[in-house]
Amino acid sequence: MSPIIDLRSDTVTRPTAAMRAAMAAAEVGDDVYGDDPTVNRLQSALAERFGFPRALFFPTGTQSNLAALMSHCDRGDEYLVGQDAHTYRYEQGGAAVLGSIQPQPLENERDGSISVERIARAIKPADVHFAPTRLLALENTMGGRVLSPAYLQAATDYVHARGLRTHLDGARLYNAIVKLGIAEPAAVAGFDSVSICLSKGLGAPAGSVLLGSRELIETARRWRKALGGGMRQAGVLAAAGLYALEHHVKRLAEDHENAEYLAAGLHRLGLAVEAPQTNIVFVDIPDEQVSALRAHLAERGILASIAQLTRLATHLDTPRAKIEAALQAFREYPGWSRGLSER
Ligand SMILES: Cc1ncc(COP(=O)(O)O)c(C=O)c1O
Repeated sequence: MSPIIDLRSDTVTRPTAAMRAAMAAAEVGDDVYGDDPTVNRLQSALAERFGFPRALFFPTGTQSNLAALMSHCDRGDEYLVGQDAHTYRYEQGGAAVLGSIQPQPLENERDGSISVERIARAIKPADVHFAPTRLLALENTMGGRVLSPAYLQAATDYVHARGLRTHLDGARLYNAIVKLGIAEPAAVAGFDSVSICLSKGLGAPAGSVLLGSRELIETARRWRKALGGGMRQAGVLAAAGLYALEHHVKRLAEDHENAEYLAAGLHRLGLAVEAPQTNIVFVDIPDEQVSALRAHLAERGILASIAQLTRLATHLDTPRAKIEAALQAFREYPGWSRGLSER
């Protein structure tokens, strides 16, 4: 059978031989004591790149986001967040469950933003009936969509003027940075904290880094320990992150081109495809075709989360030849002529 082509997510990449060599060679120490030189190097590198005073290494993006929310908000505070945001929808409500922080979910616009008017209406007055609204959390990219710097500035300026703080889930922020061709500090202007994932498009096996002020990172370090994220010789993971920053940032443009290529091929089949902005393609699959198409692709070694709204991700392990092979398998699916002509 031909090698697996995994379009489910950009989290499925395996570390390259060169990344593994960097991990094997990493100098390490006990990071709970702050003694791991490679972790310290990764933290300093990211803080410097993004123009933040401090950075903190976490095992996962979920924990990095949660520690950030818990550092900004006290028990009983509220944070504003998109209905579709990862921290609200895909992290088991950790902010509420573990942080005692009330989420105020708000409708996302089609471009992934939350309108400033909607944000304005959601901020609660200082009144004994309400949870104090403390924080706005945004995500970029959001389902592969890039939030515009102008929007981010307007939203963060507005909430700062209302006394709120701001957090950015930047799990895929480097995709936005590469897409827009902007410098890292410009991508985080207006945010009091930012979480960057190394294990998505950047291709590291694990790890996220939280950026913030000295005070915020000190608080987050305490929460990280309480949440079970105090790792010991974590330099082996941080080395993968440093390698990824050095070698896997610019190449994200390749993933974006492959996503466009994939989208164009699917469009030619007559499918309704949303033009991708970065590495994520959304395509509508007729309901009656979902399970048969999923099985057809799986038989050909293609893993894809086929659903009515299918999300396909391109990444380090889907070079153009694999995208081409995946498209060929889509083309060979016998159900199209019937399914699409009936639409
Ligand atoms: C936008 C976004 N934020 C946060 C996370 C959480 O990252 P992790 O899987 O490392 O916990 C993910 C994971 O896919 C994500 O897509």
